[in-house]
Amino acid sequence: MLLTKYFQTSAPLIPVCPYFSQCGGCALQNLSYLEQLQSKLAMLKNEMQLSGIQDSLINLVENVIAGSDYHYRKRIALQTNSRGETGFYQRRSNTLINLQSCPVCSPALEKKIADTKKLVQEFPEIKQVLLEEGINGVFCVLKLEKAGNSSETSFYQELLALAKKSFNNVLILENNRTVLKDFSADLQIPLNHEQSLLLTLPAGSFSQINWQVNQQLIQTVLAESLQLAKSRGGQRKLRILDLYSGAGNFSLPLAQAGCQVTGVECNGELIRLGRENAKKYGLEKNLKFISSSVEQFLTSGRIRCSEQFDLILFDPPRSGLEKIISFLPPAKKLILISCYLPSFLKDLKNLYKYGWNVKRIAPFDMFAQTLYLEVLSTYTR
Ligand SMILES: C[S@@+](CC[C@H](N)C(=O)[O-])C[C@H]1O[C@@H](n2cnc3c(N)ncnc32)[C@H](O)[C@@H]1O
Repeated sequence: MLLTKYFQTSAPLIPVCPYFSQCGGCALQNLSYLEQLQSKLAMLKNEMQLSGIQDSLINLVENVIAGSDYHYRKRIALQTNSRGETGFYQRRSNTLINLQSCPVCSPALEKKIADTKKLVQEFPEIKQVLLEEGINGVFCVLKLEKAGNSSETSFYQELLALAKKSFNNVLILENNRTVLKDFSADLQIPLNHEQSLLLTLPAGSFSQINWQVNQQLIQTVLAESLQLAKSRGGQRKLRILDLYSGAGNFSLPLAQAGCQVTGVECNGELIRLGRENAKKYGLEKNLKFISSSVEQFLTSGRIRCSEQFDLILFDPPRSGLEKIISFLPPAKKLILISCYLPSFLKDLKNLYKYGWNVKRIAPFDMFAQTLYLEVLSTYTR
């Protein structure tokens, strides 16, 4: 799918970032933000048409919900090379851009790039650095592979001591296993504008990178759920199945709004903190988490007949619903959140084939300056 064809401009802007033409992160800095949003909308509609989706469904596509054009990213993965350099890869290559700054990063993360570079110069064994912002500070996750003397305790103690000079919260992973963890509380991100509802997450796991757009996504999911509850007369709590729930990015606000929510997630750490999130807000009765792959959950008969759901929410990884589409339990309504356009097109067509009527297609600009788009779609029978 060649998407760049949708992003042509007759009056190119001078890119904000000096690495723009080489870095694989951003692709659209030569377009104004308005042009980006218009082009993303055209891209979505055209790709739907090219994949044979009928006009009546394409006409449902709403305007793109926007966030900030720059300084929005709350999580970045910096790559390293054997020369002790740090940055992002060039487009479609493993060549590193040894960058000093990144204007799509939040100011708090951007400030930490220089410290990260010094750390990697001292310890070139570091393969990747994740920088994540929470409302409780910046978290630095250092990823190493087992090599040479790196497994010695003193090596990791020295690395931690240096990292702690710049970061309050440090996690060191060797082959993705925790070696040292130095912070008093896990990463916390706000799920609403007032910051009165916080999601606690394990550092280094999946988290929504754009708080502002994520909050708009949550508000849309809440509004869609409450609309269903109203249409059912509100006699009892709405029963929601949140598949690919993480630690409760959607489950927690839904449970707080009075819905009965079951989250399913395969990452044990996310499940552990999901349960803690429910407890922290006194929502244990409204919100339970099941530690399982979604495929296993849907095919193992764990859903009892008594446990019918009114609404199923899906927020799958890039692969979409392919593996589970033929196992969906009955429900009144579906909400699908897609982060990858080819999967969205496939899933929409398959859901339609299985008798689901498309009601709404709402794109969200979660990743400004890139070719990517998040799409929320809803379905009823
Ligand atoms: C796009 S993320 C969404 C997480 C959450 N809804 C959020 O907004 O933070 C996808 C989640 O699905 C989980 N996941 C991936 N494959 C899975 C599977 N086969 N079964 C269950 N969970 C899975 C990942 O661990 C990740 O937490």
